[in-house]
Amino acid sequence: MALRKFFVGGNWKMNGNKESLGELISTLNTASLHDETEVVCAAPSIYLDFARSNLDPRISVAAQNSYKVAKGAFTGEISPAMIRDCGADWVLLGHSERRHVFGESDELIGQKVAHALENDLGVIACIGEKLDEREAGTTEEVVYAQTQVIAENVKDWGNVVLAYEPVWAIGTGKTATPEQAQEVHEKLRAWLRANVSDDVADSVRIIYGGSVTGANCRELASQGDVDGFLVGGASLKPEFVDIINARA
Ligand code: PGA
Repeated sequence: MALRKFFVGGNWKMNGNKESLGELISTLNTASLHDETEVVCAAPSIYLDFARSNLDPRISVAAQNSYKVAKGAFTGEISPAMIRDCGADWVLLGHSERRHVFGESDELIGQKVAHALENDLGVIACIGEKLDEREAGTTEEVVYAQTQVIAENVKDWGNVVLAYEPVWAIGTGKTATPEQAQEVHEKLRAWLRANVSDDVADSVRIIYGGSVTGANCRELASQGDVDGFLVGGASLKPEFVDIINARA
């Protein structure tokens, strides 16, 4: 099996200010971080420059969203070119809050993925089922359909990380069990094997998100197909260091 570097993303969402994020950044900069883990912090767009200027270079910076074209009359949007100009290397796309709070469609998310990759940003592409979909037994159907649209817009999977985030687990304190996470990750890898290639299935990091904490990260990280995490609430706290070091 190809070696997949453990990947931990912190999604700060719309939280913090220069003072509190500055304190968090100092904690991360001075912490002992497992060097076999790739670490990315997704800052609010207005703080991308601040995050990039202050975070240690071993920690990458991501935007939390980007638009599908480079520039123009799109008030309030930011482009991959601008994100790169601020020194950030990654973008989160398809996050459940973008899908379900802001009504972004699969089609739009696919277009954003294609444009971000064309502009050399790494993409953390998020997918995941809602509670009613899990209860109706349609989890696979939902995540395969979301992954299909992403796959149609990816030429080179080398710059893509797939984040499985069950919506019912995000910000709820209700983490998927290690078995539930592993089951979906394993199926997603099999989907990539059947629909993309063996190479991509073996090499793409599939990370888990949804109420990951310092207390539950090690057991989740011990699952064979869990290649890291996307962390919301706990990424704003010192315990984020423990999550980064979950495999250390
Ligand atoms: P949470 O958020 O860790 O607060 O559940 C995860 C996410 O939205 O990426």
